[in-house]
Amino acid sequence: MKKCAIVTGAASGIGRSVAETLARDGVRVVVADRDEEKGLAVAREISGHFVNVDLSKREACHHLVDAAMREFGRIDILVNNAGFQHVSPLEDFPEDKWDQMLSVMLTAPFLLTKYAWPHMKSQGWGRVVNISSIHGKVASPNKIGYTSAKHGLIGLTRAAALEGGAHGITVNALCPAYVRTPLVEGQIADQARAHKIPEDEVVEKILLKSAAIKKIIEPEEIANLVLFLCSDGGASVTGASWTIDCGWTAQ
Ligand SMILES: NC(=O)c1ccc[n+]([C@@H]2O[C@H](COP(=O)([O-])OP(=O)(O)OC[C@H]3O[C@@H](n4cnc5c(N)ncnc54)[C@H](O)[C@@H]3O)[C@@H](O)[C@H]2O)c1
Repeated sequence: MKKCAIVTGAASGIGRSVAETLARDGVRVVVADRDEEKGLAVAREISGHFVNVDLSKREACHHLVDAAMREFGRIDILVNNAGFQHVSPLEDFPEDKWDQMLSVMLTAPFLLTKYAWPHMKSQGWGRVVNISSIHGKVASPNKIGYTSAKHGLIGLTRAAALEGGAHGITVNALCPAYVRTPLVEGQIADQARAHKIPEDEVVEKILLKSAAIKKIIEPEEIANLVLFLCSDGGASVTGASWTIDCGWTAQ
């Protein structure tokens, strides 16, 4: 029986790479994203199924799980990956942006896990992988919404892992530093403009300043770890937060 996965934010970056990697491994993938054009293209490429959802809306989470069940009749893997960044000082941080960040990066993972849970439980097997961030473990100035949501996601991961243990469901979080995706490319361009320096200098002097290994992580590196956690080899790993940060937080 082929496994079925929901990958949120699968139209781009890390989510796209996760969807492609799972599909190559024989998993049928629901590509969930609010970007219809790119999401459809990914779904077409991997022979998956695209669902157009805005995960800041509660009812969209219900719709997504229903759509996956209608299409594939089962949910084995849930990868909560959709997210975005907003950078501004606490005092100026827009309150609607805070609400949106918490909705997409914390409430949606909770709701999707809740709705997928009975299906995983009845199968006696399930894998939930939450894409947190190094900002789930440490903070940076001007990133209060992102840092709060990603810290919360680690709490959600641990609490769900404790309940999943008896039912063959594992729940883990990944905490990457900078990964080469449109989200980070946008940040590099913004910083270059703000500091009036070239983009490669932003990468070297700002992004990788604290990293032991001076490189931007490739999306495939994250996807391969997701694949491991979703395999039988990952059966004993649960409630963990995997740091993939080129040594940034080792000091
Ligand atoms: N790139 C990095 O350096 C990095 C590091 C750590 C964690 N992360 C996390 O990894 C995840 C993926 O980031 P990425 O770098 O691949 O970004 P990305 O911008 O390339 O992709 C994010 C995807 O999420 C989708 N999305 C955003 N809001 C949505 C919504 N409301 N409903 C449905 N879809 C929505 C976007 O349309 C996009 O396709 C995010 O949660 C991000 O916080 C990224």
